Amino acid sequence: MPIINDIPAFHAFLTTNPNSRILALCGAGLSAASGLPTFRGAGGLWRNHDATRLATPEAFRADPGLVWLFYAYRRHMALEAKPNPAHHALAALARQRRKFLCLTQNVDNLSQRAGHPPSQLRTLHGNLFTLKCFNRRCSHVEHNNTADPLVPSLAPASVTTPADATRPLPLVDADVPLVHIPASELPRCPQCASLLRPGVVWFGEQLDGALLGEIYEWLDEGPISVIFVVGTGAQVWPAAGYVQEAAARGARVCVVNTEVAEETLGPEDFGFVGDAAVLLPRLLEPVIGSTKDDGTFE
Ligand code: APR
Repeated sequence: MPIINDIPAFHAFLTTNPNSRILALCGAGLSAASGLPTFRGAGGLWRNHDATRLATPEAFRADPGLVWLFYAYRRHMALEAKPNPAHHALAALARQRRKFLCLTQNVDNLSQRAGHPPSQLRTLHGNLFTLKCFNRRCSHVEHNNTADPLVPSLAPASVTTPADATRPLPLVDADVPLVHIPASELPRCPQCASLLRPGVVWFGEQLDGALLGEIYEWLDEGPISVIFVVGTGAQVWPAAGYVQEAAARGARVCVVNTEVAEETLGPEDFGFVGDAAVLLPRLLEPVIGSTKDDGTFE
């Protein structure tokens, strides 16, 4: 039987291995307490609007305005959100433990905004605030573009409350017809004038090869004591595979999620059921200290 909701047992484990290597695999549940919806849980935007149809190169080719509206809305929501205590706890762990690497599937930039050291963070699925050229022959990439709206035609995606809405709210109410935005009004590459696209990994696309190589180098540097699996359904590959990769290097799995499937855990593994924003600060307290009033540590 795995060890469920036993915080003292986890603290004992954590403090007896002060120099060990720690990995984390994070997903949308990490940002749930910041008010960003998960993909497959209740209220998931992607489920309501069929992510597999919007988050693909084919969808972008067919209707770039629709896909941009979806991403402009997600950019706006992420900009409005604030990092929560779970992002701050992982950032504090990274500052305390140089041998901690955090792999996140989230593209919302909240871990970065919590001050997670970039050298200890790998964004598997890219970043909403990276723009890149849709033309594969063009190498143009722009980082940290937080303009909102990105171009005037995407302003409807920045409207969050019906009271402020001058046009129908896209992607919130499935019954409201979406605004059609012609390609001529969308962001363009300054180098080649092709369309720009969000710098995220779409369904059917490969993850960045150099990034995957760096992660394998880290994995192969030695044994791993624990892998935190935080707020992810761990259904999407290759991300989900890192749990097995870590376990193969000796790691105990520590799942932090509102739903924990105990049958998937081994007898030495830990499961903590609840909100990551509440649980992670408590689980990591022996290393990062207690929370200050502003939600940070140390
Ligand atoms: N605290 C912890 N876990 C939570 C919380 C919370 N407050 N709220 C929800 N969860 C859990 C859910 O139980 C679920 O297991 O977070 C998980 C979210 O799972 P998904 O919605 O499937 O998100 P994720 O695993 O990040 O998806 C992976 O799939 O759609 C693609 O590229 C997209 O990066 C994404 C990838």
